[in-house]
Amino acid sequence: MNTIAVAIDGPSGAGKSTIARAAAKSLGFVYVDTGAMYRTIGLAVSRQGIAIGEPEKVLPMLTDSLRIELSYDAEGVQHVLLCGEDVSPLIRTPEMSMYASFVSAIPEVRAFLLEAQRSMARTHNVIMDGRDIGTVILPDARVKIFLTASAQARAQRRLIELREKGEDVTFDEVLSDMEQRDRQDAERAAAPLRQAEDAVLLDTSELTLEQSIDAVLALIRTAGEEKK
Ligand code: DC
Repeated sequence: MNTIAVAIDGPSGAGKSTIARAAAKSLGFVYVDTGAMYRTIGLAVSRQGIAIGEPEKVLPMLTDSLRIELSYDAEGVQHVLLCGEDVSPLIRTPEMSMYASFVSAIPEVRAFLLEAQRSMARTHNVIMDGRDIGTVILPDARVKIFLTASAQARAQRRLIELREKGEDVTFDEVLSDMEQRDRQDAERAAAPLRQAEDAVLLDTSELTLEQSIDAVLALIRTAGEEKK
């Protein structure tokens, strides 16, 4: 099957997952949230009582018995399963964000997830979001978008999201966590966050969610026309 892949990368809080999910729904593509896979490994690691900063203790966990699967419900919403358990509600906490950033810097963890991500794109039309999709995972993606926004705008959006979930956090805490994660994700040696040379930069600081979704859909359609 000849599949179409759209890669969306960018820093945390740029709106990647909300925008990618909506665009995928509108196009009938599968949305693959690769950050959820790193978060799930982070959860498994924290459940083992391993502290952030102990990568050597993570390595023995990377075996077939660490089963991470994505499944989709009738509405097309992605759920992530850790050894069969739906952990989707457990991975969106500030603590798991930090664990995900920690494990994602370990090259062996990235290698562990690479094939699962590529195989999704071989078998489905996908919109895949992450940090290294356009640069490493799907270098031949039909469309590559680097989605960003100012740190202030991203922290403000993340604050609203966390408060809606009942997390008791301040703007300054969210901003400082986000800046720390951005630094870690961009400065790590293994597949650091960066814009692919052939990716289109889309800054959503001044855009509403609807405008951002429209902009992404327009980029995908334009790329589709150019290929004809
Ligand atoms: O997109 P997110 O906030 O759910 O990602 C969680 C962490 O995982 C983030 O710190 C960066 C990392 N990540 C990554 O290194 N590569 C990806 N493809 C996706 C996420």
